[in-house]
Amino acid sequence: MSPLQEFLALAGAIAPEHRYRTVYDADFHVLVPGKEPIDAGTLDAFSRIDFAGRTVVDLGCNFGFFSFQARRLGAAAVVGVDREPMVLDGCSLLRQHFHLDAVAFECHDLDDPACPLLSRAFDIAMLVEFIGKTFVLENRVAPALAFLERLSDRELIVSVQKIYWIRKELGTTPGRLRDIYPSRYIDGGDFRLLDYVRDFFTPRWRMEALSPLTDGYEKPRKLLRFVPA
Ligand SMILES: C[S@@+](CC[C@H](N)C(=O)[O-])C[C@H]1O[C@@H](n2cnc3c(N)ncnc32)[C@H](O)[C@@H]1O
Repeated sequence: MSPLQEFLALAGAIAPEHRYRTVYDADFHVLVPGKEPIDAGTLDAFSRIDFAGRTVVDLGCNFGFFSFQARRLGAAAVVGVDREPMVLDGCSLLRQHFHLDAVAFECHDLDDPACPLLSRAFDIAMLVEFIGKTFVLENRVAPALAFLERLSDRELIVSVQKIYWIRKELGTTPGRLRDIYPSRYIDGGDFRLLDYVRDFFTPRWRMEALSPLTDGYEKPRKLLRFVPA
């Protein structure tokens, strides 16, 4: 069997909840549909990152979409990280199919305070399409950002949805969110996640938006770059 045939067989055996990102071939034809296709705006924003010659870690890489893209955009070495071993096996088969060297996949748990990854350093640390509604509701945004920050002192890449509608999207109330977050992030019926993320990194890092930003509610997630302030 070719690596692609092996990947397709493996992908079929992976539980649907772990098949997040649609898997594309190198020419962007769909190999395996996932919950989340890639959109042109995100690809465009991602291509603005200067990966040339950089070492990169991609946390929560799923099928390695952004790990492979980073390498294609010139990264010297990329480590994709996930906690699902079968998903990582799939990444290794895709790497063979794509004939990409210098992309490694490793199993780590970001919730592990003794995670061995934390003793390493990369030029660029990425947390892309990782933080979502559950992270907001369970107050796990700050620990995820703190983990990311320990992996690079040069550049952090994060994507988050700018604003969530508290009742409709988060299924909770402004009052309950005020028990968790400072009230400045709760604006009527909106939870201002992007502001929370920006302020988490201030004053150590300065935020630059890679995606176009306008006022008010917007979907999908916005790609943000943080550089030392
Ligand atoms: C929403 S997907 C994002 C996938 C990828 N960044 C992308 O955009 O294609 C989140 C991924 O993070 C992984 N993950 C979730 N919690 C994790 C943890 N604590 N440690 C490591 N990986 C985790 C999941 O297995 C899943 O593959």
